[in-house]
Amino acid sequence: MHEPVKNNAAPFLSPEAPIGIFDSGIGGLTVAKEVMKQLPNENIIYIGDTARVPYGTKSDRTIKAFTLQSCLFLLEHDVKMIIIACNTSSAVALDFIANMFRIPVIGVIQPGSQAAASRSKNHRIGVIGTHTTVNSQSYKKTITSLESKAEVFSQACSLFVPLAEEGWLHHGVTDQVCSEYLKVFEGTNIDTLVMGCTHYPILADSIDKAIQKIMGHPVTLIDSGVETAQVAKNILAEKKMINTHSKASHKFYVTDLPKNFTAVGERFLGKKLDSIEMVNVESMGF
Ligand code: DGL
Repeated sequence: MHEPVKNNAAPFLSPEAPIGIFDSGIGGLTVAKEVMKQLPNENIIYIGDTARVPYGTKSDRTIKAFTLQSCLFLLEHDVKMIIIACNTSSAVALDFIANMFRIPVIGVIQPGSQAAASRSKNHRIGVIGTHTTVNSQSYKKTITSLESKAEVFSQACSLFVPLAEEGWLHHGVTDQVCSEYLKVFEGTNIDTLVMGCTHYPILADSIDKAIQKIMGHPVTLIDSGVETAQVAKNILAEKKMINTHSKASHKFYVTDLPKNFTAVGERFLGKKLDSIEMVNVESMGF
């Protein structure tokens, strides 16, 4: 493992070194899917902290400690970059981690905010996410720093995570829950909605249907994962660290029994999950 501490020269890593992706659980596979699409030659090490999910209702202090442990685990695998795919961790722990590590560490909030700020025509933007993400006001602050005319309206949609994990994608209950949460945007005239949680792109069809009905006009949905994969690609290109050689290997680690992760994860990733291993949280990092 290369030492995380900054100040020293950057560690020597080849373009063949893997990209590390971290999420509180399974949802980050929606981000991994985009990375695989946009960077098809990259080796990927994914860690999902399935033993301690959800993060979205936890305190900043706990989320920072858990996120650090997983990022140290990724560092042990000599990753050349870390993507914090979890919106909640990105909202409260990204700066803390990025300042400590010598490799690029990126989150999903800045890329998602950038896309929202540039695509909204009327500068009226909605954000949905977990309680911790919404309470952090991280999206709101980032969007308004990018576009001073922006007005941001936020809503926590806690039930979306279990609905996505349950696989209730085209289900009457999901449609009803979407309508219930999203009616808060009535009268805001938003033209753009950021899906600020890893799980939400899985429910994009229901979210889209509900928000269009409520607003009475089409609303652009932003998938922060898609935008983040693009940012990762740009950073690697700039550093001449894109892997052009390898036949990509994708390795997945979880902190609890992998059974559910495999079943649901294949739906999130859109392909077979072959290489999953369980790691002990107690043996990670600290
Ligand atoms: N991965 C989390 C996020 O994107 C959602 C699940 C959780 O609460 O841990 O915010």
